Amino acid sequence: MVRYYSNIVGKYGKFVQKALKKLESFEISTICSTHGPVWREKTAEVIDIYDRLSRYEPLDDGVTIVYGSMYGNTEQMAEAAADGLAAAGVRDISVLNASNTDLSYIIADIFRHRGLVIAAPTYSDGLFPPVAAVMEAIAVRGVQNREVLLLGSHTWSQQAIKVMTAHIEASGLSTVADAVSAKHAPAPDVLTQCRQS
Ligand SMILES: Cc1cc2nc3c(=O)[nH]c(=O)nc-3n(C[C@H](O)[C@H](O)[C@H](O)COP(=O)(O)O)c2cc1C
Repeated sequence: MVRYYSNIVGKYGKFVQKALKKLESFEISTICSTHGPVWREKTAEVIDIYDRLSRYEPLDDGVTIVYGSMYGNTEQMAEAAADGLAAAGVRDISVLNASNTDLSYIIADIFRHRGLVIAAPTYSDGLFPPVAAVMEAIAVRGVQNREVLLLGSHTWSQQAIKVMTAHIEASGLSTVADAVSAKHAPAPDVLTQCRQS
């Protein structure tokens, strides 16, 4: 249901809020979403989840780590961030490779979780395309209220962090710590920063 909502309806949060207000006085027995699942049970729970998703409130305190990586450098940074979060007691951590995970699953986890780590290498003086697609999908849906951390890798010019920061600022999201930058393969101190941030 979260995957359905976040991908298809996710962009229209304020309209969902208006619709829910109109329906407040009705006793609802069946929810027939236009092209999503039909709910005949647990309708109150479903409406509550729609309400929270349409206010862009996370459903839980988990963290989505979405990364792209050509040689594995950024992947090491993403794995280090996952280790750090697990050591800090975060139980629900999704580590998703943007190159081989369908965008719909990435968007669903971003809507579900409070934390969001985005990690990418610099590519042709810009952002690695699979991660650029994720940034675009976040902007299109107007995702809000997330605790964001950016990790970036480069060899001669750190454009990935620059581009991701511009996307995050334009989306009205904010980061919880300074972005972590690696020059080519991440050195041990950089991996420590990924764990601690
Ligand atoms: C196709 C390609 C394009 C790249 N373009 C840039 C670039 O414009 N600027 C830069 O600093 N590094 C560039 N790099 C280097 C990578 O950003 C760097 O090696 C990074 O550590 C790769 O991380 P990854 O293993 O996670 O992909 C490029 C590498 C490749 C393979």
